[in-house]
Order: sequence, then structure tokens, then C-alpha cells
Amino acid sequence: MTPLGLYVHVPFCAARCGYCDFNTYTAAELPGGGDRTGFVAAALQELDRAATTLGAAARPAATVFFGGGTPTLLPPDDLLAILEGIRRRFGLEDRAEVTTEANPESVTSRALARLREGGFTRVSIGMQHAAPHVLRVLDRVHTPGRAAAAASEARAAGFEHVSVDLIYGTPGERAEDWALTLDAALAAGPDHVSAYGLEIEPGTALAARVRRGQLPPTDPDAMADRQAEADAALSAAGLEWYEVANHAASPRARCRHNLGYWKSHDWWGIGPGAHSHVAGERWWNVKHPTDWARRVAAGQSPAAGREALDPAVRRFERIMLEVRLAEGLDLALLSPAGRRAAERLARDGTLELSGGRAVLTLRGRLTADAVVRDLTD
Ligand SMILES: C[S@@+](CC[C@H](N)C(=O)[O-])C[C@H]1O[C@@H](n2cnc3c(N)ncnc32)[C@H](O)[C@@H]1O
Ligand code: SF4
Repeated sequence: MTPLGLYVHVPFCAARCGYCDFNTYTAAELPGGGDRTGFVAAALQELDRAATTLGAAARPAATVFFGGGTPTLLPPDDLLAILEGIRRRFGLEDRAEVTTEANPESVTSRALARLREGGFTRVSIGMQHAAPHVLRVLDRVHTPGRAAAAASEARAAGFEHVSVDLIYGTPGERAEDWALTLDAALAAGPDHVSAYGLEIEPGTALAARVRRGQLPPTDPDAMADRQAEADAALSAAGLEWYEVANHAASPRARCRHNLGYWKSHDWWGIGPGAHSHVAGERWWNVKHPTDWARRVAAGQSPAAGREALDPAVRRFERIMLEVRLAEGLDLALLSPAGRRAAERLARDGTLELSGGRAVLTLRGRLTADAVVRDLTD
């Protein structure tokens, strides 16, 4: 049976970073400062509902991922109570991967030790950058040193799998700032690094600063240079790419939960705004934490909308996601026109075709979105 992943969305942040458009709220944005204790009870109620709805298809989770928002704003015992709820209702596979995202400024070595002891196996730290002036533009409230220290504390707490998230291409970032960031991230000893190009999301404070001319927009050439530098530095350090933005020190260090998204496995998202995908159907929860908690407390579905994915949509999504993986795209998924495009891209040095699969070259990884367009048009 398809592996099952469970995602838990923790919608709280101490402050909002100007670039972020994730579904997250500061205390001032929620009535009464937000009911963080009530969050655990509501998450457990949604888990009850999920287990009942899945019925005979409920099975031990292969992966669990607590993301946000800032899961580490909750006391570790709250995260463990939700994990225990998952264990009781679904079970966990042997060697299940259990990840939490952690913000450098709110995670402590004590909390990490408690999470490790309670069954978490992986921690993903939002380092973002090592240059103080870039962290300021991103509105990050931690120092670069604190992010690296959190990674070492996670290792000391016994986490075998420690990941760091980085962002490149922030306005004002120089090539040497990014080189320093890659060095600092590698020096922290992670076995996984995600390196994302900054997206200027409409409606964010950062987008408003760019619109007002206070900051320049991102520069596509600089973005491609930074991505190529990341690719080279991370692979030289033994962290090979396995998805366009993700590098791991070994196959075991790859994020199995995210691989589940990219390979269209089943996952159930718990929490406000969380998305789910089970047996070819997709749905998404109401975004506001108060509406979500009210609905689950009343025994109603928190889903705001749902869609059955028809074969054409499924095929399009598989092409879009699987071509970004180092294991490549099964050429059988392509239409005749898509196959001709793949042959052309292979001649251009953008794709490598072998054993019935198409794998992006470095040049292809730098233009992955355009490759997807060519393969699906
Ligand atoms: C939504 S955050 C949650 C993790 C945690 N709260 C943090 O900030 O470290 C997950 C990751 O998404 C990435 N991210 C968020 N917004 C982004 C944007 N506009 N452009 C590129 N990456 C972004 C960041 O690297 C971040 O670590
Ligand atoms: S990037 Fe992370 S800490 Fe910043 S607002 Fe988004 S979720 Fe919160």
C-alpha cells in the first residue's frame, strides 16, 4: 500500500518574516493572543476524525512532519502529545521518520533532547542565511551563530538527521555573502540542506518594499549563479542533490516525508490551512486557526474545499514533481509531443535520458520551471 504521511501545521510565529506568506499568525493577530493549549486538543480531534474517515485504509504512518509556522513555539510536551495521538490512532511504521521544523531563536537544547527522547528522529532548522545584513532584510530575529548552535545542539541531543534551510537571492546579498552562508551551514554539520531561491510573494511586507522601490527585485541571473554555487559547494561536501532544492549526505538522509509529496503518495494534513492528498483526492482545511478549531470541536470537517484529481491532472502533476528528482521522470508519462521536447532538451544538455528516464543536468536544474513547461505543453 502507498506509504502514509501525516503533516501537522502549527500556525504560530513570534514575529512575521517580511518574505513569508505561509499560513501563520503572531499572538497579536489572534483573539486572546491565540489559544496554543487549545491547539493540541483540536489537533487530536482532527486526528480522531482522520482515523475514522480513513477507516480500513488507516495504517501506520511512514512519516510525520510538524511544520509551520513555528512548531518549536509550542512546549515539546505539546508536540509529543500530538505524536502520541498519532501513535495511538494510526501507529508508526518501524523506523518511521518524525521531523519537526525548528526556529533557531525558539528552540533550546533541552527541548531538542526531550523531542529526541519522545521519538522525533529529524529536525529541520530555519537558518536562512549567515550574513547579518541579509537576515535583517529577511526580518529574521536570530543571529547566524544561533542557527549553527541549534544544529550542533540537535546533534548533541542524538538526532542523526539534521537539516538546515537556506534562502539565496535576497536583495543586497553579494556572492561572498552566499559563499559564507554555504560554509557556515556546512560547518554546522547537517546531513541535509534545502536551498531555496527567495520568492517575493504578493501581499507580503517584502513585496511592498520592492513595489515602493525601497529594495530592488530579485535578479534572475544572480539567482541562477547562487543556485549553481550551492549545487557545487554542497555536492563537494558530500551532500548530493536528490531534488532540485534539496541535498542529502546519503539516501538515508533524504527527507522521506517530502519525497512522499513529490511522488504523489498519500498524506493527511492536520491543522489550519493544511492540505491532504489521499487516494487521488485532494482537500484543504479552512485557514484561520479559530475557524479550524471551532469546526473540529463541533465534529465538522475542517475542509474548505476538495477536488478529485482526474487522470490528466495527475499526469501533469507527476511530470512537474518527478522531473525535479534525481531519480528522474519516467518517460512513459510524457505525451508524444512531450517526448519530442525531452529529446530536444537532451540535445541542448538540459536533460539526460537513460533507462527510460529523464534526469535534469545542472543546466536543467537551473531552468527546471521552463523544462516542466516544455514537457507538458
Ligand atoms: C514556512 S518556513 C517554516 C519554518 C520556520 N518557521 C522558519 O522560518 O525557519 C519553511 C521554509 O520555507 C522557506 N521559505 C519561506 N518563505 C519563502 C520565500 N518567500 N522564498 C523562499 N523560501 C521561503 C524558508 O527557507 C523556511 O525555512
Ligand atoms: S519564515 Fe518561518 S518564522 Fe518566519 S513568518 Fe514564516 S513560518 Fe514564521
